[in-house]
Amino acid sequence: MAQLRIAVIVGSTREGRVGDRVAHWFVEQAARHDDLAVTVVDLTGYDFPATYPAEPTASIRAFVSEVGRADAFVVVTPEYNHSFPAPLKQAIDYAYDEWQAKAVGFVSYGCGSTGLHAVDQLRTVFTALHAMTVRDVVGIDLLAGEPTTQCADELQRDVGVLLDQLRWWGLALRDGRAARPYVS
Ligand SMILES: Cc1cc2nc3c(=O)[nH]c(=O)nc-3n(C[C@H](O)[C@H](O)[C@H](O)COP(=O)(O)O)c2cc1C
Repeated sequence: MAQLRIAVIVGSTREGRVGDRVAHWFVEQAARHDDLAVTVVDLTGYDFPATYPAEPTASIRAFVSEVGRADAFVVVTPEYNHSFPAPLKQAIDYAYDEWQAKAVGFVSYGCGSTGLHAVDQLRTVFTALHAMTVRDVVGIDLLAGEPTTQCADELQRDVGVLLDQLRWWGLALRDGRAARPYVS
């Protein structure tokens, strides 16, 4: 069976962000699974326009192609004021069909919270895009330390649960898309 293609989207573009380290930690673990092909989609690598253009720019087209190539996604998101970062929403909105009937999981983090407000709001957004968000989340409270330093066993178990659910839905939806066109 072909590997499930998972795109890990790094949702923070903030200078001095923790997000790249959180994503790297997650990717290291996901990459241990031979049946998964994991790529990183770092939003800092795209020169998106300040305003939504009438025609997609080269950067927008490149991002949308990455979304289109993936079977499933893991969004690595911080919590900012009980939501998720604006640049992440900007990027999500550039694609539409490319998200459809695909599985989305979350690695979230915050200071004092584990980022669940951000995840709740992202679930609403991805439902609007006809994507299927998986139930369990890897949630990290940075006040307890970065994932490499805190409760490694517990967080690694959470990664395993997330990947199990993402794999199940990712494969089921890939089969479904191949069998018949989605109904949106
Ligand atoms: C504008 C802003 C708002 C924040 N709001 C929250 C919040 O509502 N809840 C929380 O737990 N942490 C909050 N934090 C803390 C961030 O989750 C923490 O700084 C984290 O490192 C941000 O991710 P990043 O470093 O990858 O950008 C906020 C941080 C910023 C910069």
